[in-house]
Amino acid sequence: MRSGSAANLLEIAKAKQLGLPELAAPADNQPDARKIALGRKLFFDRRLSRNKTMSCAMCHIPEQGFTNNELARPIGSEGRGLKRNAPTILNVAYYQRLFVDLREFSLEQQVWSPLLASNEMNNPSIGYVIETILNARDYAGLFQQAFGGPVTMRSVGEALAQYERTLISGDSRFDRWLYANESLALSNSETLGYQLFTGKGGCSSCHLIQKDHALFTDQQAHNTGIGYWDSMLRTSREVAVQLAPGVAANIDQTRIASVGGAKANDVGRYEVTLNPSDRWKYRTPGLRNVALTAPYMHNGELLTLEAVVDFYNRGGIPNESLSPLLKPLGLVDKERAALVNFLKSLTGSNVKILVSDAFAVPIGDPDAVSVAH
Ligand code: HEC
Ligand code: HEC
Repeated sequence: MRSGSAANLLEIAKAKQLGLPELAAPADNQPDARKIALGRKLFFDRRLSRNKTMSCAMCHIPEQGFTNNELARPIGSEGRGLKRNAPTILNVAYYQRLFVDLREFSLEQQVWSPLLASNEMNNPSIGYVIETILNARDYAGLFQQAFGGPVTMRSVGEALAQYERTLISGDSRFDRWLYANESLALSNSETLGYQLFTGKGGCSSCHLIQKDHALFTDQQAHNTGIGYWDSMLRTSREVAVQLAPGVAANIDQTRIASVGGAKANDVGRYEVTLNPSDRWKYRTPGLRNVALTAPYMHNGELLTLEAVVDFYNRGGIPNESLSPLLKPLGLVDKERAALVNFLKSLTGSNVKILVSDAFAVPIGDPDAVSVAH
């Protein structure tokens, strides 16, 4: 039985952290301790999936950077595979639009995508989810206390969004170096990495760093070629599947398709706009805590930060709508290592606190199992 200690999430939702801008929650869903607690309970509750086995936290795993480090693309309900990598939920509240194709724009609404998707939590309807909550004795009265009303589509979304807005993590060593003038907070190699990131590497033209804060994203979608490669150039029929931490096997894709269904084709932002110039464009991810959130890119194709830096050093993957901002960089070994080291300096100081808080949440149905303490 794992254990952790609860954090003051309301305080985290309200405090300004070094390197991050103020976070404005919607006027009608301002941070509230009871709503946060309810959202946190829902996030970890496996009963919210149709077969009662899958919670939000099983793809957005707290101790794995609130993503899944072991699978390029998660497996959802009944072994059905997803076509995209699970992004971290840390700092998700700062995105103007959600999902890597920018198709959703509020956390309150977003939650219904995984709750209802047949390859995620597979609930047959909104009403089904609401009934599940109504039938769970341990939720009795909680919605009334938090929202002054019954369980509704809206209040479920609001509660989950409240919890997600507490998963805020800034104040990294980089922030102390840049925004608090602690010149020793970064090593020489990390400092060189910063210079490359904002200079010769051209990284900060998309992964923005501003005067008083850095979200490392321009909130826009770009074509780096990785999606094009996945759809058009992938030749190997085998993919590496992680079986356990550090243990991978090469498995023929047709065998994976036979158990989990073939991975659906993915053309990125085009799927939303149907504008051909948006083909294979994906949102620029914020890079905070990136050392904790492998594997990388929308499809989890790149397993390490070294691989990501090598990818950019080659100038991405050529295709007709490759972003003009990507070009071969000609970085030498020392410079590539410096960029990786810089990326590793972006881990927030409170991640351990958020993980420990997550460990303090009871999982699933308290009536069904006797919990031994
Ligand atoms: C089966 C795995 C799985 C489960 C379960 C799951 N997610 Fe996700 N989540 C994903 C994947 C994959 C994506 C990226 C999909 C995309 O961008 O098209 C994602 C995206 C998101 C995003 C958008 C992140 C961003 O950077 O824009 C949020 C927020 C989110 N999930 C929250 C939740 C919540 C809340 C739940 C539970 C109600 C949940 N997820 C359940 C796999 C999962
Ligand atoms: C043209 C805009 C652009 C530039 C320039 C750029 N990036 Fe990116 N970056 C992106 C986009 C878009 C993605 C997501 C691609 C995807 O999901 O397929 C990404 C993904 C990443 C990721 C993976 C993050 C994750 O969570 O999966 C890292 C790390 C990264 N970039 C670092 C860099 C570095 C280092 C540089 C400079 C050498 C750089 N980027 C230059 C747009 C850019």
